[in-house]
Amino acid sequence: MINKPSGMFDRDFEWRALEAFATDPASGALLGVVSGRRRQGKTFLLRALCQETGGFYFAADEATDRESLNRLGSALADHLDAPAPLTFETWHGAVDALLALGRDRRIPVVIDEFPYLVRANPQLPSIVQNALAPLRAERENSRAGLLLCGSAMSFMGRFLSGNAPLRGRASLERSVSSPPPTSTGTAAAGEPAQKMTLWEDKVSR
Ligand SMILES: Nc1ncnc2c1ncn2[C@@H]1O[C@H](COP(=O)(O)OP(=O)(O)O)[C@@H](O)[C@H]1O
Ligand SMILES: [Mg+2]
Repeated sequence: MINKPSGMFDRDFEWRALEAFATDPASGALLGVVSGRRRQGKTFLLRALCQETGGFYFAADEATDRESLNRLGSALADHLDAPAPLTFETWHGAVDALLALGRDRRIPVVIDEFPYLVRANPQLPSIVQNALAPLRAERENSRAGLLLCGSAMSFMGRFLSGNAPLRGRASLERSVSSPPPTSTGTAAAGEPAQKMTLWEDKVSR
């Protein structure tokens, strides 16, 4: 059981789903996709998950591809207590460095605002797909739980649908509607039901 932070209201279903993902006893890297409209608490949940488990959290922004690779290299160095930023020429090396975070144990590895990265580099979903190819050593030897998060629901859902690059063979889709978190745990009057979706994709073995 991963401790649910005391300041977190509701979201028991999402927390349990993320907990199951972050403690999945299976071998090999896992891929999950989290989406939902803005201000639903996705970042809050994923940051909390990483805090509670020693996971790695990275929030992308609207930077160029080169700037994002540099920022990720710095964030990884901080996480690993490395003396200097890691340098990546391409996302191939960067994604393998993310997978390597899970060499010893199951660990969540979050890329928040993933659509910003894809906008700057449309190859990225296919690079992640190839990095997670069945029988690939970097995937087999990793227990990273890669979580890609974004607010554009249709954009995020597309990654795992049909012939999309990130579509795995055995995938599980989970979705939930629940009221927005408030201190009383109920939706404010007149608020539309808020929705957050978690997709988990167990990359085929
Ligand atoms: N379950 C929750 N309990 C308490 N505060 C929350 C919860 N979910 C979200 N919040 C707060 O709501 C705001 C919006 O959440 P955020 O994680 O930024 O949303 P998103 O990433 O989906 O756009 C933040 O200030 C966050 O701290
Ligand atoms: Mg967010």
